[in-house]
Amino acid sequence: MKVMVVAGARPNFMKIAPVVSELEKRGHQSVLVHTGQHYDASMSQSFFDDLGIRAPDHFLGVGGGSHASQTARIMERFEPVLVGARPDWVLVPGDVNSTLGASLVTVKLKAELGTQLAHLEAGLRSNDWRMPEEVNRVLTDRCSDLLLTPSRDARANLIAEGIDDERIHFVGNVMIDTLLLRLDAARERDHARTLGLERDGYVAATLHRPSNVDESDALRVCLEAFARIAERMPVVLPLHPRTQQRAERFGFRGLLDAITVTQPLGYLEMLSVTDGARVVLTDSGGLQEETTVLGVPCVTLREQTERPVTIEQGTNRLAPWPLTVAGIIASFEDALARPRRAVGEDCPDGWDGRAAERLVSSLESFRTAPVAAA
Ligand code: UD1
Repeated sequence: MKVMVVAGARPNFMKIAPVVSELEKRGHQSVLVHTGQHYDASMSQSFFDDLGIRAPDHFLGVGGGSHASQTARIMERFEPVLVGARPDWVLVPGDVNSTLGASLVTVKLKAELGTQLAHLEAGLRSNDWRMPEEVNRVLTDRCSDLLLTPSRDARANLIAEGIDDERIHFVGNVMIDTLLLRLDAARERDHARTLGLERDGYVAATLHRPSNVDESDALRVCLEAFARIAERMPVVLPLHPRTQQRAERFGFRGLLDAITVTQPLGYLEMLSVTDGARVVLTDSGGLQEETTVLGVPCVTLREQTERPVTIEQGTNRLAPWPLTVAGIIASFEDALARPRRAVGEDCPDGWDGRAAERLVSSLESFRTAPVAAA
């Protein structure tokens, strides 16, 4: 079996690592494509280094830009690579523009090449069509032959959209495979100590959603809340390039000075900082899942989450919406009152370190319906 694995942005890399390794273990051929959506060393190469992912077979170098231009470049540069390789499968993780771009190319060439499309992390829904990721998720799922779901709730979302049940395979959360495999190494790295922070004595924050950082008022609310919380407990904020650009444009340097701001962290550094935090404040999807497994109380700075299982079973809560400084601080206080859980305690089904094994078994066993019936 020949599987083309496509990754482009930071949250993709921890999802592909265990899959590429499982494919190789079983003697399948993997072709690794990096679209170059994320390109700074701290957003890309450091993840390949930390996770031991081999160098990509194809690097498309698409870089940043508007949604249209970025997605178009991904499509243009991915098409000849797909045609040249003619794999049995294209596997796309997550919900970024690279996911959708590669999916559209694959489905349009399906009749010609016979390549099937599998979506890793299918069926998650925020039901907020204003989020670029929601558009990417829904359209990628619609294009896919095989829908690999990370949590049990995803199936109902797909069935409600008319997807055939037999194309939906529950495999669990591959990102948690990576977390469990790398946690000891992350603890040894102990990046919080390098930053002068004591385990359980600080808050880890991240912020990069357009809805929180692209408007001056929204970004001010989040950063003011972080600065106020930092009066009680140190707040470490690894700064995403998007957030950094906006904070500079809006003149928020002063607010950042009250916080421990770092460059974007590599995988092991970030896992170490998350694991040691007393509370996590975030708008990231991945951190909602990672804190659930690590047992760290998490406050999500969004109106809704496509990962409700992290609230029902995990340690996650949504801050009151619309976000206010007082609302974020109250949610932080609430999280602070909750004890840390043990790693892996009360985790969602399939978040057990073996999702990549189930995923590769699904690829091996799945037989698609004819194109006309898809
Ligand atoms: C993208 C994903 C988002 C994901 C996030 C994780 C889409 C639609 N969004 O958002 O779902 O949560 O990645 O980080 O795919 N930049 C750099 N260096 C880099 C990468 C980006 O400087 O290596 C800057 C560029 O100026 C770029 C901006 O950050 O314009 C935003 O990058 P982009 O890939 O467009 O979206 P993200 O906000 O990173």
